[in-house]
Amino acid sequence: MITYKELIGFIWQFVRRQKWLFFTVFLIDSLTWPLDALIWPYILHIVIDIFTRYEGDRAAAWEALRAPIIGGVCLVLYVEIASRAMGFLMAKGMPKLGADIRMAMFDHIQHHSPHYFNERFGGALANKMNDMTNQADKIIQQLFWPIVPTIATCILASFFLWWVSPIFTWILLIWIVIHLAVLVKFTRPVDAYEHRNGEARSTLMGCIVDSFTNNFAVNLFYRFRHEKQNVGTFQKIEQETNEQARKYVVKMQCFLSLFYFVAVVFGVFGSLIYLWLRGNITTGQVVQVFTTMWSISMILWTLGSSLPFLFQSFGIARQAYSVIRDPQDLGDLEGAKALKVARGEIVFDNVSFHYGENRLFQNKHVHIHGGEKVGLVGYTGAGKSTFVNLILRFFPLHHGKILIDGQDIAGVSLESLRRQIALIPQDPLLFHRTLQENICFGKPEADEEEIIHASKLAHCHEFIRNLPRGYEAKVGERGTKLSGGEKQRIAIARAILVDAPILILDEATSSLDSVTEKYIQDSLEKLMQGRTTIVIAHRLSTLSQMDRLLVFDKGKIVEEGSHTILLAKDGLYARMWRMQVGGFLPDQNI
Ligand SMILES: Nc1ncnc2c1ncn2[C@@H]1O[C@H](COP(=O)(O)OP(=O)(O)O)[C@@H](O)[C@H]1O
Ligand SMILES: [Mg+2]
Repeated sequence: MITYKELIGFIWQFVRRQKWLFFTVFLIDSLTWPLDALIWPYILHIVIDIFTRYEGDRAAAWEALRAPIIGGVCLVLYVEIASRAMGFLMAKGMPKLGADIRMAMFDHIQHHSPHYFNERFGGALANKMNDMTNQADKIIQQLFWPIVPTIATCILASFFLWWVSPIFTWILLIWIVIHLAVLVKFTRPVDAYEHRNGEARSTLMGCIVDSFTNNFAVNLFYRFRHEKQNVGTFQKIEQETNEQARKYVVKMQCFLSLFYFVAVVFGVFGSLIYLWLRGNITTGQVVQVFTTMWSISMILWTLGSSLPFLFQSFGIARQAYSVIRDPQDLGDLEGAKALKVARGEIVFDNVSFHYGENRLFQNKHVHIHGGEKVGLVGYTGAGKSTFVNLILRFFPLHHGKILIDGQDIAGVSLESLRRQIALIPQDPLLFHRTLQENICFGKPEADEEEIIHASKLAHCHEFIRNLPRGYEAKVGERGTKLSGGEKQRIAIARAILVDAPILILDEATSSLDSVTEKYIQDSLEKLMQGRTTIVIAHRLSTLSQMDRLLVFDKGKIVEEGSHTILLAKDGLYARMWRMQVGGFLPDQNI
């Protein structure tokens, strides 16, 4: 559970970046409203007393009225100027605060492992960033209205009223204490209700995003009604929790109303009449106390009705803050050095790794020599992708270490590690940016010549050239929707451009037709020269040129050796080879 302290601490670090601006706003804020609320009653008091004192002599009354009138005009001027100045400061400060929070959250979230993103909806994460920014904005706005003015008004009012008669200060203090006690007693459960509502809303949004993301499947199976029902179930929970939260607020307001009635009618009216009858206070003072109390009751009421919203904001912000609390699972160790690769030797030294309960690798030892070309073979789910993901440090190990040229990858900087390895994944996703930006994502400084050269090697130059906007075409726009094979070729061009000493192909050519694959195979073979290469392939024929094959079965390496040796062994590999129909490996162990 995230505490208020933690959340406020988080927001505070961004407020602090503009401390002078917010401090000035705070000063103006805590003076303006209270002065407005307390000086007007005082001016009224003076004016009424003048009227009652100079009955009949209007000229003398006018003389005496000059000072309070000038005071009133000055007050109006001050309040207007101060409010506008505060408006300008907030107009400058709040957008910057929002931008700072959003950028900080983006930077934190983007450093998580791909595993983290696999487990969450991208849309939901973006939503949380937005929630945090909006709610931090609301919390600060509420602080400046009505929280700070209320506190300042109550403090100043107790002095002002003391001046009239200490009785009113006591009435005010008792009133505030009881009012706050009711608020505190009620707001704790409001907080819980809002939290529940926030959670329900978050689940609902996740469900909606998931449904939209899978819109193709919804269309394909014509499951619109089912999806609506499914979303409807979550919507109903959200509606119910929202209703509970709101009803509770109204209940709290009932208590406040009752108490307000008693305080005003018996406390204020009663004592005003009593003191006036005894001649202890003037008519002007009656009016002053009455209007002051009126202002205070208004602002306390505003506070009472906005506190639930404040807690709602806190509830939503706390939920959103949870993504900041998720520790980055892959950060660099302190003093991490850059990885230096000369030969490109990769060693798994006693490595154990498991996904939750799924124990995949136990005390694994593997030695891949520098410049060696190793093929990984095995049924789907055997652990091949995990094996290469571990080399990229996408997951922390549970035991043992992985060494590249003798350096433990856990101790080197991620940036240097990722620069030395080019991975072409099975289903590359492209950014909604131009093809050129996509190709040189790993090497932004590449010039046009280099990009075209890499594209030619990856056999994507041909189809890109034929697009109306060529390399400037945006992926995902009409006409440039790419097929799986085209995307894979872009990913290959990207890897060629990066020119890293270690190359990993994770079923990189699986979406290509055999003719294109043949062409690309030639380019890839050129690319593999002088590099340590790990190739995972479904089509075993593409692996026959490898120096060595590792055959995976349920996380274990059950066989290893070259294609011919393994065939001669007549084990799992030989069985798979024979089972291949047209060069494909069946998905399950038959
Ligand atoms: N991110 C993950 N979280 C939990 N389990 C996973 C994850 N990725 C893969 N697995 C599981 O680990 C096993 C090996 O998966 P993987 O390495 O992708 O196999 P392969 O690439 O050989 O098909 C499978 O049982 C798979 O379900
Ligand atoms: Mg895989």
